[in-house]
Amino acid sequence: MTVTLVIGTQWGDEGKGKVVDYFSKDADYVVRYHGGNNAGHTIKVGDEVYKLHLIPSGVIQGKTGIIGSGVVLDPEILINEINELTKRGIKPKLLISDRTNIIMPYHKILDGAEEKYLGDKKIGTTKRGIGPCYSDKVARKGIRAIDLTDKKTLNKKLDHIIPIKQKILDVYKIDKKLDKKEILDAYSKYGEKLKDFIITTHVELNKAIKNGKNILLEGAQGTMLDVDYGTYPYTTSSHTIAGGSTIGAGIGPKYIDEIIGIVKAYTTRVGEGPLPTELLDKDGEYLQQKGHEFGTTTSRPRRCGWLDLVVLRHACMISGITKLAITKLDVLDSLKQVKICTHYQLNGKKIDYFPANIEDVKQCKPIYKEFKGWDEMDKNSSKFSDLPKEAQEYLNFIEKELQVPIAVVSIGPGRRETIEI
Ligand code: IMP
Repeated sequence: MTVTLVIGTQWGDEGKGKVVDYFSKDADYVVRYHGGNNAGHTIKVGDEVYKLHLIPSGVIQGKTGIIGSGVVLDPEILINEINELTKRGIKPKLLISDRTNIIMPYHKILDGAEEKYLGDKKIGTTKRGIGPCYSDKVARKGIRAIDLTDKKTLNKKLDHIIPIKQKILDVYKIDKKLDKKEILDAYSKYGEKLKDFIITTHVELNKAIKNGKNILLEGAQGTMLDVDYGTYPYTTSSHTIAGGSTIGAGIGPKYIDEIIGIVKAYTTRVGEGPLPTELLDKDGEYLQQKGHEFGTTTSRPRRCGWLDLVVLRHACMISGITKLAITKLDVLDSLKQVKICTHYQLNGKKIDYFPANIEDVKQCKPIYKEFKGWDEMDKNSSKFSDLPKEAQEYLNFIEKELQVPIAVVSIGPGRRETIEI
C-alpha cells in the first residue's frame, strides 16, 4: 500500500496532469481534495488530448476517481465532463464526497462582481465562483453534495440563503433576480444525475488504505496560491500545500508515504500579484510561446519568468516534499543562457525566504546564477545521461540547492517523453 501526494510548488500550471497520469499507473484511487474547476489538467495519451477541470486525471487510466470534501464542485461542469468522457469511450469511475461544497449560481455572479468592484486591485480570479463558495463554506452557509439529493433540505437552505445573496447582489448593483424555484429545480436535477456517485468517500478511502490499495492524491493549483502560505491576497481560497490533502481527502497525515513536488523548469503565473522573476523581455515571450503558456481554464496568457529557488525552498519546507518532478525542461532548449534565482535582494539585504508582506514581495529583486544554455534535446532521451550536459548541470544545481532528489524529468507532453531517475 502506498499513498502518494502530488502537489504544485509554484503558481499552478506546473504540468501536474501529466505527472499525476504518470504516477497513477499503480494507483487504485486518484483523489482530488481541494480547489474546483479553476484547475485545468491536460493529459496527452497518444494523439488524444484530455482537458479535465474536475474529474481526477487518473480516471483516463481507468482508476477510481474521488472528489473529496475539500473540493468545491460545480455540478453542471462535472456532468458535462462525465458526458464528454463517456462520448470518448471512457466511462469514468467516480465517487463524490457527500460533504463536498457545491458552487451555486450566485457564487459565480459574486466572483465576477467582487472582481469588478476591486478594479485595478482585482485578484484576477478564474471567475468560477471558487472564492465565494469557500467563503460560504467557512461561514456555514454552504450547500453540500448530500443536500442535492434531498430536495426538502435544499429548499430549506435556499429559503435562508437566497434572500441574503439577493441583498448582496443589490449592493453590488447587479441587475439579477435570483429565482429560488429555478435554482432548486436545477440543482435537484443535478442531484438526481449525480446521486449514485455521492457517498462518504473518506470511509471508502480509509478502508482502501487498510486493504493495502494504492492511492494518489492529486493536488491542484500550486504552493504560492495557498490561502495562508501563498502571495496573499493574490491566492486561491484553498490549501494547496501538503497539509490540505489530509483535510480535503479525510485521511490521517501518517498514511502519506511520498510527497512529490512538481517543479516547472521555469516559473509562470496567471492573474494578478507579484512574480519576482517575471521576464518582460524576449526571453519571457520565448517561454510563453514555446511553452504554450496560455491558461487551460481561462485561456489567459501566463506571465513567465526564470526558475525561483526562494519559492521552491518555501514549497519544499512547508509541504515536506520528498521527491521532485521537473516538467517542461525542453522549453528551455535553444536559449543561449538560462538563469536560476537563488535569493532576493530586499532593502539592501540578501534574503533566502519568501516575505509575508506583499508590498515587500513587490520590492524583491532576484539574485541570479547564470547557466550556459543547450541545444534542442533528443526527445527520445530515456536516461538522465542522455540529456545535454548543460541541462544536467541545471538539474543538479536544483537538486543540490533544495536537497530533495529529482525522481522524474519531463521533456515533452507525451507519456513517453519522461525520464525516470
Ligand atoms: P480563483 O481560484 O479562481 O479564486 O483565482 C485566484 C487566483 O488563483 C487567480 O490568480 C487565478 O489565476 C489563480 N488560479 C486558480 N486556479 C489556478 C490554476 O489551476 N492554475 C493557475 N492559477 C490558478
